[in-house]
Amino acid sequence: MSHGSKPRFDGRTAIVTGAAAGIGQSIAIGLAADGACVMLADIDAAGLENTIEQIRSAGGKAIHAVADVTEEQAVADMLRRTNEAFGSVDILVNNVGGSTRGGHIWEMSLETWQAVVKRNLQSGFLCTRAVVPGMMKQKYGRIVGLSSGASQGTPWRALYKGGADYATSKAGVEGFARHLSLELADYNITVNAVAPGPIETERLRDSFKQMESLEFSPLRMTPLHRLGRPDEVASAVLFLASDEAAYITGQTIRVTGGR
Ligand SMILES: NC(=O)c1ccc[n+]([C@@H]2O[C@H](COP(=O)([O-])OP(=O)(O)OC[C@H]3O[C@@H](n4cnc5c(N)ncnc54)[C@H](O)[C@@H]3O)[C@@H](O)[C@H]2O)c1
Repeated sequence: MSHGSKPRFDGRTAIVTGAAAGIGQSIAIGLAADGACVMLADIDAAGLENTIEQIRSAGGKAIHAVADVTEEQAVADMLRRTNEAFGSVDILVNNVGGSTRGGHIWEMSLETWQAVVKRNLQSGFLCTRAVVPGMMKQKYGRIVGLSSGASQGTPWRALYKGGADYATSKAGVEGFARHLSLELADYNITVNAVAPGPIETERLRDSFKQMESLEFSPLRMTPLHRLGRPDEVASAVLFLASDEAAYITGQTIRVTGGR
């Protein structure tokens, strides 16, 4: 919530991709609770309704688009609707991402590799490319991408499941932020990333539970010895999206419980 009398994102507009569930839902709710007008984009229509309902019942402002943000036309339509409703975009959170079935390098198909790179990198590329001209014109922008502890190699993932496609894509999210922070600095657009560790979302709850007895389990390997919560990731994203972080760009904040 806000630190002063005015909400932190008063008068700001934001796009959050993947806002129907998990971390993206928590980010969208947090931005709206702190005064932002939020466009929620996701492929999951029912989940979007759920997020919208939570935001509106708390008095927040949000609209939504059922959109696959790895598709150029869907991103263009989503941005047009955002501009029609809110006039401009100040904040973009590239939250869409995730892995498919993982797999060790010696058994990974080209299709799996390409699908994961597309979901984690093409989504952020297309949404960023779409919003940047408007941000350049208004000389203001905050772009935050979702990386992962996996960008540095995560033992439980690498040892038991593989997933070089995901780890490599997330390292790409950090490189994208690092590069664009330089390219866009003169326009007062900051570009950063947040790298979550093991976060207890609905989707991952059971798989983390199944890993508890493993030698290199998330709980054993994480210094704080617990899973993180979506709102603990959202608070780092909101910080980077706020004016408090005006002098921070090209950085990745690791919300990984100490790893
Ligand atoms: N949960 C974790 O432990 C964890 C850890 C590290 C990084 N992350 C990253 O954080 C982000 C959010 O993760 P999460 O666990 O909340 O994921 P999630 O799977 O719970 O939610 C992702 C949302 O994105 C949507 N989505 C997927 N592909 C889409 C597409 N092409 N277009 C539009 N929407 C799409 C899904 O429908 C879903 O609502 C991801 O980038 C993920 O890689 C998560």
